[in-house]
Amino acid sequence: MKILAFESSCDETSAAVVERCDGRFLIKSNIIASQVDTHRLYGGVVPEIASRAHIEAISSITYEAMATAGVTMADIDAVAVTASPGLIGALLVGVSFAKALAFANKKPLVPVCHVMGHIAATYLDGSGRVPEPPFIALVASGGHTAIYRVISHTECELIGSTRDDAIGEAFDKIGRIIGIPYPAGRGFDELSTEGFIEATGDPVAFYKKYKRSEAYRNPDLALPTPAVRDDSLDFSFSGLKTAAINLIHRYEQRGIPLPRALFAARYTYEAVEAVAKKLGSALDRFEGHDLVLSGGVAANSHLRRRLSELAASKGVALYMPPVSLCGDNAAMIAAQGYYDYMAGKRADTSLNASAADTIN
Ligand code: KG4
Ligand code: ZN
Repeated sequence: MKILAFESSCDETSAAVVERCDGRFLIKSNIIASQVDTHRLYGGVVPEIASRAHIEAISSITYEAMATAGVTMADIDAVAVTASPGLIGALLVGVSFAKALAFANKKPLVPVCHVMGHIAATYLDGSGRVPEPPFIALVASGGHTAIYRVISHTECELIGSTRDDAIGEAFDKIGRIIGIPYPAGRGFDELSTEGFIEATGDPVAFYKKYKRSEAYRNPDLALPTPAVRDDSLDFSFSGLKTAAINLIHRYEQRGIPLPRALFAARYTYEAVEAVAKKLGSALDRFEGHDLVLSGGVAANSHLRRRLSELAASKGVALYMPPVSLCGDNAAMIAAQGYYDYMAGKRADTSLNASAADTIN
């Protein structure tokens, strides 16, 4: 069966054709038109500009996705679209387009939750190494930092979430202050690697050795581990962000240039450790559950490495999408759309987009 899927919840317009065959997914095409160059001028996503750019891109990327996959609408069994959560104007473009296309071609229309879509990116592994529910999933992106217990392919339970900023937002905002262009996640990741290596002098096992380094003990670079000190599985990144801003100001006031790489390493270390700690508690609480890492921030090399260690120490398997499928894309929406379709989920022309975070 072949699914044509759309994603337009934020600043990427994407269309994909994914085939389900012999119990596996095959990505026939996954076209992503990114708007980051446009939004970079403003240091973040401007919702109205995002909506207009989605309108301009959606037809041509649909043709491209279908041409690359070598299919016509006659070959498509269902149309899936991100219907929530996200920027309302941006979502509406994908929803309206998918609705019209499905209606005109008499195809079933399947509304998909963007967050479930991020988790479903781990189902796309062509080798068949995919997580089986129930499992614990971290969704870490520009808009979300949450832990879910995925009960089945179509049902999940929120067991922890950020009480303030999302982790991606925490990287983007501090990254911007230290001169990394939007979205700062990837640049932050690379700068942190430089910092870890500088701190430990070891280009291989730098993360493990970092806590024993002099740079870690340097009071000028000290940052708190952002923790919600209760037995919940919630996160909070605003304290870390404020402490980082104060640290940067102290350097400015003293007229000393900020050691950017060492600072980035410390900031990344604290953000990653905070996530690892709560995920460790989640794995202890839900014995026998494997671990899934997803969302744009799942591309972070330090988080990937740290969670690999965590999973190994807890004796569970870790699943994470390849970096190319961590960010927003329509192939992940197709994968989730397949399971929703099989569970009988359908929408008609009254489907509306919803900005709200309503999972399932
Ligand atoms: O999932 P996504 O593409 O969009 C949302 O649904 O928000 O995530 C985008 C976020 C941005 O905050 C971006 O800076 C972050 O993912 N990101 C990273 C990395 N690559 C992207 N954050 C940390 N390290 C990375 N390597
Ligand atoms: Zn996303």
